[in-house]
Amino acid sequence: MDVYEAVTTRRAVRGFTDRPVPGEVLERVLSGAAWAPSGSNLQPWHTYVLTGGPLAELKKRAGERLAAGDPWDEPEYEQYPPALKSPYRERRSAFGEQRYGALGIARQDMEARQRAASANWDCFGAPAALFCYIDRDLGVAQWSDVGMYLQTVMLLLRAEGLHSCTQMAWAKYRKTVAEVLSPPDELILFCGMSIGFEDVTVDYTRTGRAPLDETVTFVGD
Ligand SMILES: Cc1cc2nc3c(=O)[nH]c(=O)nc-3n(C[C@H](O)[C@H](O)[C@H](O)COP(=O)(O)O)c2cc1C
Repeated sequence: MDVYEAVTTRRAVRGFTDRPVPGEVLERVLSGAAWAPSGSNLQPWHTYVLTGGPLAELKKRAGERLAAGDPWDEPEYEQYPPALKSPYRERRSAFGEQRYGALGIARQDMEARQRAASANWDCFGAPAALFCYIDRDLGVAQWSDVGMYLQTVMLLLRAEGLHSCTQMAWAKYRKTVAEVLSPPDELILFCGMSIGFEDVTVDYTRTGRAPLDETVTFVGD
């Protein structure tokens, strides 16, 4: 698979089979992703990989919280500005309509949207997941390094025939994740990532992108 194919076939997959992901594949992918660039080579990511019993335990605990209607953990970072301005606001609502429309959920049906979103905490059925942390002393440039690292992980997963879904949703249950992983206090959970083989019976709509001239300006001859 060439890089363009890896990039264009990567998408947020929200339905996985229970086919296990071999440990050596995960190790190969994470060893490869360690070559992601970072300012001054700080490599500011810290990743926990969960499979088997520990992942089942995490899903169980998160499911219990969900069933109990437990409030989300207070955020340690802002996922979106409270008043999202244009064009981001429109892109976000277009995404919501696309994602939930594909599931036959009406725009105003917030309860059904929440129900669909709750699959996040079952990792959409995935048999493997990673949880990516960053040191709380680091700043925006290092958070951007972590983004590059995560995309590298996702592309290498494609090269292995695997799919993924990055999930900030896990930050909402970060204390439950911490119960299972016991990370040091200086780390903030940025996101989880479900990893596995796609369940091709699950319907989806491919998320679109803004026209190139909305996000890129070419200056030159
Ligand atoms: C940092 C980050 C966090 C995300 N969090 C979630 C999440 O919690 N749940 C989810 O279903 N998708 C999540 N996504 C997936 C995005 O919705 C998806 O990448 C975006 O809509 C573009 O679609 P595509 O990845 O299928 O091309 C996240 C993606 C990123 C990069």
